[in-house]
Amino acid sequence: MDWIPLPEDHPTPSLVVDALTVERNLTRMQQYCDEHRLSLRPHTKTHKSIRMAKRQIALGAKGLTVAKVGEAERMSEASRDLFLAYPAIGTGRLQRLGSLLRDFAEESHSSGTSGRIAVGIDSLEAAERIAQTARNVGLPIGIMVDLDVGFHRTGVESSAQAVELCAWVSKQSGLEFRGLMCFPGHILPAASTEAWGQYHDAIAGVVDRLGSLGIDVPVISGGSTPTAKESHRNPILNEIRPGTYIYNDWNEVALGVASIDDCAARVVATVVSVPTKNKFILDAGSKTLSSDRHCVEPESGFGKVVDYPDAKVSRLSEEHGEVIFQETYAGPRPKVGDRVWIIPNHICVCVNLQNSFFLYRQDNPEHGGLEELAVDARGMLV
Ligand SMILES: Cc1ncc(COP(=O)(O)O)c(C=O)c1O
Repeated sequence: MDWIPLPEDHPTPSLVVDALTVERNLTRMQQYCDEHRLSLRPHTKTHKSIRMAKRQIALGAKGLTVAKVGEAERMSEASRDLFLAYPAIGTGRLQRLGSLLRDFAEESHSSGTSGRIAVGIDSLEAAERIAQTARNVGLPIGIMVDLDVGFHRTGVESSAQAVELCAWVSKQSGLEFRGLMCFPGHILPAASTEAWGQYHDAIAGVVDRLGSLGIDVPVISGGSTPTAKESHRNPILNEIRPGTYIYNDWNEVALGVASIDDCAARVVATVVSVPTKNKFILDAGSKTLSSDRHCVEPESGFGKVVDYPDAKVSRLSEEHGEVIFQETYAGPRPKVGDRVWIIPNHICVCVNLQNSFFLYRQDNPEHGGLEELAVDARGMLV
């Protein structure tokens, strides 16, 4: 129970974030990007916090990535260079996008600074709708064409289709063709040279064909936390968009891209019952930790109880976390009223379940160093 000293009346379950660890995680990623001449455009879906986003920008991030328009609205307080890496389909969504763009334009009239927004798309339908929005508001919208480089989620599959879509976009009034995006979620740390080669070639084929049509591709944006610090293995990239790296989680530890010490955001929970010798119950269930399973070992439980590494969070109900020891376990056990630290499997989903988090700074003289901050873009799903 010594990760961060908490006052006796600290509420549980709650999410606590260590500012020093955050600073180290952010600085290392920015340094990596600077060394390899990559722009960093962190995905803010992990922290959903304006304070954290401002820190990323202050350390050198070029702009911010979001998934949804509601997130863009919130994150516009931290940066006026936003990339919505998600197909913005839907009338309401596009109207809000148009309004945000208008706000940026009005502001640039009065302040002289200009804001910009780009959207990642993989279909002509999406491009047409965004072009219409741009014409309605009379302002340009950036387009990044999403390529499927092997994760098989969104993204144009064939390079011929990708070239066609990019060429169409580059001719539309209202649209600004900014480049290509991809999400290499299928590439794990220390993946083979072949896997990285395929990742490179999938993009290079499109860039080459666009080049022969006289279409420039200014931005080539990739990245995820597991691949982020190996991005130089795909030298065609000039931007990356990791998100999870700010806090890390038990998935990243298992993947070998973070140590336990790099896990900056943890849930503190209270033992509310010890019904049997080998079981204890926490006040953190699926409404706190999320039901996300572990990405490497799905049966290993719903997060890591740091104080009892041999225990397994075996079952969650909404407000109960059941933790079990094996029959043969002979080590220490908690008692009712004890507090424990849990590193969630997937921190992004956990953050989105909290109204607020407690930021710990040793040099903060107030409230034992703990400052409660809102999760500003929590629940911004549209
Ligand atoms: C489009 C896109 N870009 C970037 C990221 C960030 O990746 P990570 O969560 O591994 O940091 C994600 C994550 O889901 C994503 O979907």
